[in-house]
Amino acid sequence: MTDTPTYVNPLRDPEDRRLPRIAGPCGMVLFGVTGDLARKKVMPAIYDLANRGLLPPGFSLVGFARRDWADQDFAQIVHDAVKTHSRTEFREEVWRQLSEGFRFVPGDFSDDMAFDQLRRTIEELDLVRGTGGNHAFYLSIPPKFFGDVVQQLEEHGLSEQRDGSWRRVVVEKPFGHDLESARELNDSLGRVFPPASVFRIDHYLGKETVQNILAMRFANAMFEPIWNSNYVDHVQITMAEDIGIGGRAGYYDGIGAARDVIQNHLLQLMALIAMEEPTDFRAESLRIEKQKVFESVTLPRRLDLTTARGQYTAGWSGGVKVAGFHDEEGIPQRSKTETFAAITLGIDNRRWAGVPFYLRHGKRLGRRVTEVAVVFKRAPHLPFHASATEELTQNTLVVRVQPDEGLTIRFGSKVPGTHLEIRDVTMDFAYGGSFTESSPEAYERLILDVLLGDPPLFPRHQEVELSWKILDPILDHWARQDQRSGKPDRYQAGTWGPPSADAMMARDGRTWRRP
Ligand code: BG6
Repeated sequence: MTDTPTYVNPLRDPEDRRLPRIAGPCGMVLFGVTGDLARKKVMPAIYDLANRGLLPPGFSLVGFARRDWADQDFAQIVHDAVKTHSRTEFREEVWRQLSEGFRFVPGDFSDDMAFDQLRRTIEELDLVRGTGGNHAFYLSIPPKFFGDVVQQLEEHGLSEQRDGSWRRVVVEKPFGHDLESARELNDSLGRVFPPASVFRIDHYLGKETVQNILAMRFANAMFEPIWNSNYVDHVQITMAEDIGIGGRAGYYDGIGAARDVIQNHLLQLMALIAMEEPTDFRAESLRIEKQKVFESVTLPRRLDLTTARGQYTAGWSGGVKVAGFHDEEGIPQRSKTETFAAITLGIDNRRWAGVPFYLRHGKRLGRRVTEVAVVFKRAPHLPFHASATEELTQNTLVVRVQPDEGLTIRFGSKVPGTHLEIRDVTMDFAYGGSFTESSPEAYERLILDVLLGDPPLFPRHQEVELSWKILDPILDHWARQDQRSGKPDRYQAGTWGPPSADAMMARDGRTWRRP
């Protein structure tokens, strides 16, 4: 084999992606600084990036909130968040340099004077920190305020990109609660920012193990030939959490498991597993392939038999007694919001025709685990006495997204001895065992990509719309069931969901994995 290819694609990205990418001069404005996400994820990720030397020396962070704070109060909030949640060690000199770029602007979203002050603050930072007019506005706030904030940014000249500088907006899910509201949300962002300046965060795409799905599929020769309906029996995508809804009743009630997680994280995982090889890894090439998957998704006719939903009741989690969903603070007794959802989808193309994709997510399940299991068909013929393979199940490839990140392949092997018996064994790849570097947090990668203007890991609006088109009929079906006095089933906290989820699989002659 020679290193010099005979043919060269003139369009392919010429950049050597092994080199660390460092953001150029820029700053970030964070709306919603008091929220959970800002404290637990965004602020620590900014520090971790600074600690890894990936932020420009003059990076600035402006907090905006309805609080009577001075710059030092804001710095203290970030300091506490970083000390508690950052991934990398705390280094005084990194902190000192970073925090010199912190500013705070008090005000609410309708306060013109506050946005004027924000403009002046940014101008001052451009001068003293050399941020070059490049700023990302991170809206870590409920989506109902997106429209107001971007309008204010426009009216106060904050969205305008001048003399080669950039302005970007970063939004977090939920991107709407159905197709219509997603379109409205997109329109309100699109009135001010061009599509290339809107970065929608689906933090699952920032996870190493999720990015590795494409590396595993397309950098290797051995998986792709069997990655189709000739060999694959079905695919199970599971995101199980042991936590309940915690203090998030305000957000969660009325949203539920399907909108919170399936519409975004799990459908994105499905797209990465099912898509064709993209021509390259540019955002547009990825979007085209993911979009084709979403466009090919089919729903079973009988949604009553192929979906399941439930709400957790009191039970045990990690040896501790925990309350049921209806006893969580802020949840009305009559709430029909599901905390567990399972759905069945098909993908109507040559590769996947006839292969069901089962997606499930729930809170307060047996343990925290996210995985994609590709379950293969049985060998067409077994030249053994039936008793020899009694314990043999189906070959499975499991992408272990978290925790215990890695990949497992399960296959049959002869049990040592003079007799002939074949049992399942597993072959494991674990990140911890193969690499010395620890994986960056999803938010580190995604925030850096925003600052670099690198969009492949951010879902485009078309994908968001298509995801709602897939989910809306299921949500409508559940809403109709509720009107006919139906309600989600119950499952005890610490178990693996309602019996209806098992029944749904049993109808197809299959069972859920118990990871
Ligand atoms: C969020 C959901 O998107 O993902 C939460 O809104 C969920 O309900 C969280 O708990 C899980 O993220 P992770 O990275 O811990 O799996």
